[in-house]
Amino acid sequence: MLDVLDKAAISAAVERTGADTIVHLAAILSAVGEKNPALAWNVNINGMLNVLDVARDAKLRQVFVPSSIAAFGPGTPLERTPTDTVLRPTTMYGVTKVAGELVCNYYVQKFGLDVRGLRYPGIISAETPPGGGTTDFAVAIFYEAVRTGRYTCFVREDTRLPMMYMPDCIKATLDLMSAPREQLVHHSDFNVGAMSFSAGELAAEIKKHVPKLEVVYAPDFRQAIADSWPRSVDDSAARAEWGWAPEHDLASMAADMIERLRVRHAAGTL
Ligand code: SER
Repeated sequence: MLDVLDKAAISAAVERTGADTIVHLAAILSAVGEKNPALAWNVNINGMLNVLDVARDAKLRQVFVPSSIAAFGPGTPLERTPTDTVLRPTTMYGVTKVAGELVCNYYVQKFGLDVRGLRYPGIISAETPPGGGTTDFAVAIFYEAVRTGRYTCFVREDTRLPMMYMPDCIKATLDLMSAPREQLVHHSDFNVGAMSFSAGELAAEIKKHVPKLEVVYAPDFRQAIADSWPRSVDDSAARAEWGWAPEHDLASMAADMIERLRVRHAAGTL
């Protein structure tokens, strides 16, 4: 455990462990970032710079820094959003992600550091609870379906966003990290698609497993954030440059989520 704002601690951890690679996931997500934009800027930008500087100075082999669909915003085509397109986000989280992509590419060009990154869509996991993002509804609805059979969703029923199941998120990350460097044209800003669904379509899929599920829609400030993000992404650059292919769709993800959360619920760990 360390604070990413403490550069000396990162440096000491690299020395102590002999690590040759850093996977830098620490960040403040979109919804929490709108409550505290200064904190989002500080953690997401200065934390990332600390990691990049330590990696450069210690001559590490590689750094992975994820970006997000939050890098997009008004002016971006929202259907099959291309990898190379307009990046004018309206959240501080998105601003830090665009700046992060640019800074990571800068470290590649200027210092020759092997920095790579993907624009994660909403990530759905049966192990990690939602953590302050706009896509959290797609995780929370599963927990409530299994726990109580009722969920109040903070975006409209027709809100469609790109999503990915955790096993595909891990696969995308490791596949990009192990791709031959000379094959990469992009570095820190790959779109990766897996599935896109609306909140209503997700609820209908979960109801196949939990027929009693009742969902109420009560949009809050996160609706405007969701509306500014893509509904689906074009990930042809990832497919061409490092062979990206997802394994899970909505049906297989939902079935596996429910099965895993039921096991956890029965064991009293949900
Ligand atoms: N899942 C993130 C969020 O909602 C997007 O990267 O903030």
